This record gives sequence, C-alpha cells and structure tokens, in this order.
Amino acid sequence: MAGVKISNLKKQYIVDKQRIHALKNVNLTIPDGSFTTIVGKSGCGKTTLLRLLCGLEEPTEGVIEFTCREESCKEISGKSVGIVFQESRLMPWLTVKENMAFPLFKTKSKKQADKIVEEYLHIMGLGKFKNAYPSQISGGMAQRAAVGRTLCYNPDIILMDEPFAALDYFTRNNLQEEIVKLFLSQGKTIVFITHNVEEAVYLGEKIVVLNEGQVIMEHKVPLSYPRQSNTLDFINIKEEILNTIIGNREKLNA
Ligand SMILES: Nc1ncnc2c1ncn2[C@@H]1O[C@H](COP(=O)(O)OP(=O)(O)OP(=O)(O)O)[C@@H](O)[C@H]1O
Ligand SMILES: [Mg+2]
Repeated sequence: MAGVKISNLKKQYIVDKQRIHALKNVNLTIPDGSFTTIVGKSGCGKTTLLRLLCGLEEPTEGVIEFTCREESCKEISGKSVGIVFQESRLMPWLTVKENMAFPLFKTKSKKQADKIVEEYLHIMGLGKFKNAYPSQISGGMAQRAAVGRTLCYNPDIILMDEPFAALDYFTRNNLQEEIVKLFLSQGKTIVFITHNVEEAVYLGEKIVVLNEGQVIMEHKVPLSYPRQSNTLDFINIKEEILNTIIGNREKLNA
C-alpha cells in the first residue's frame, strides 16, 4: 500500500512558442488507503497531474514522493501505480479475460493469472462475458473490464481519469457504487478525477478542487459510505464545491 506526497509541483508546456502553466505550484498529501477525488473545469490541469503521478511525464519543478505504511519502504516504483482512462483502451483482438490477464503474463504463471482474473471477472460482474471481444460488449462492461484489468495487476495506487464520463446515468451510478465497494473491501489508495461535482462528493473521502493549475480547496467529506445524493448534507457539500469553482471564475473575470 502507498500514499503520495506532492511538493511544489509545476508543469509547463510550450505550445506555439507560448508557455502554458498547466500546474503552477501544487502541494498535496494523499494518504495511504485514502479515496481522493480531484475536480475542476476543463483545462485546469487534472489529467496533467495524473500523468505526472503515474510517471508518464516529468515535472518541470517539484517532487512526487510515494510513501508506504511500512517504515522500510520509503519509495515505490512506478510499477505499483495503475491507471484507468476515460475510454477502456481494451485490445480489440483479445477477449475480456485475455485483456484482464494481459498485465500479468510477465509476472505470474498461467495458473496464477487465471485464478486472479476469474476472481475479478466475478467481482466486476463479467463472468458470463469473459470470452467476448470488446466489440461484443457494452461501453459500461468495457469500462468494468478496464477497472478489473487494473485491479488484477494489484497496484498500490489506482489513478482514474474520468473513467465513467462517457457512460449513461444508470451505468455510471452502478460503477460508482462498485468502486465504493471495492474501496471499502480492498483499502486501495484511489485518486479519481472528474469534472462532475456530484460524482466527486459521492466518491471521495477528500475532494481537491483544482483551478488554473492550482489547488484552491481541499474538502474532507464527513459522510459515511454508501452516500445518498439526495440528503441535505450531501447537497450542501456539493453546493460548497460548486460555489468554490464558480466563485473563483467570477473573481478571475472581475
Ligand atoms: N501534452 C501537452 N502539450 C501541451 N499542452 C498540454 C499538454 N497536455 C496538457 N496541456 C495543457 O495543459 C493544460 C491542462 O490540461 P489538462 O489536460 O491537464 O486539463 P484537464 O483538467 O484534464 O481538462 P479536461 O477536463 O478537459 O480533461 C491545458 O491548457 C492544456 O492545453
Ligand atoms: Mg483531462
């Protein structure tokens, strides 16, 4: 298991000779075994932060440290970070089961891999479709397979970049419930990016609001799981987060 400590993180890009400050000075602690949601408007730096966390990009400045519960383990390698993208990114020539087994083929025997994959096929409700190809399953099922593939790999930290954004309301609600159940049963560290404030409140123990490359709010959600989106407490938190995002835009425009 692992957490993350992010210190003075900056990421700049040069586009058409102009410097883009995608992340300006991000400081954030993501505790081991916690569920953090990151919310903010399009272009505020959410995906950039995730790409830096999983090592797909290097910071311009600043440090990302992985922390472990065990004292002996001060750092973990990038191998312990799993990522789920907005689209499932399944390989179309492999079946659901083969896609889920794919990350295991170097580190596990076929027998071990089969056992792990069977377990997650069951957890993700895909047992009946294990021999189907991605073109033969729905978008929600493909996304479940993508989540299952990441879980099979057993990463210490799971990063999710708007994984349910393209799904219909019902499928999305279903998968949100499943992610909460997985979090409660497996205690993984999860960082979940969304632009949907309701989703952020439904899922996160802590909500981080990003705006123009900066953390403008960290909000601990004092609600137990599973959460009901129609309760007064839930609606109040949602309003507060929305006001932070909108209020900041108004201040910036003033
Ligand atoms: N590879 C890149 N090269 C140049 N600029 C980039 C690159 N990736 C991101 N950016 C810029 O960094 C800023 C933040 O982008 P990012 O993709 O992190 O936003 P986001 O919050 O994920 O937005 P969305 O909600 O639309 O996915 C944007 O101005 C974007 O144009
Ligand atoms: Mg993005």
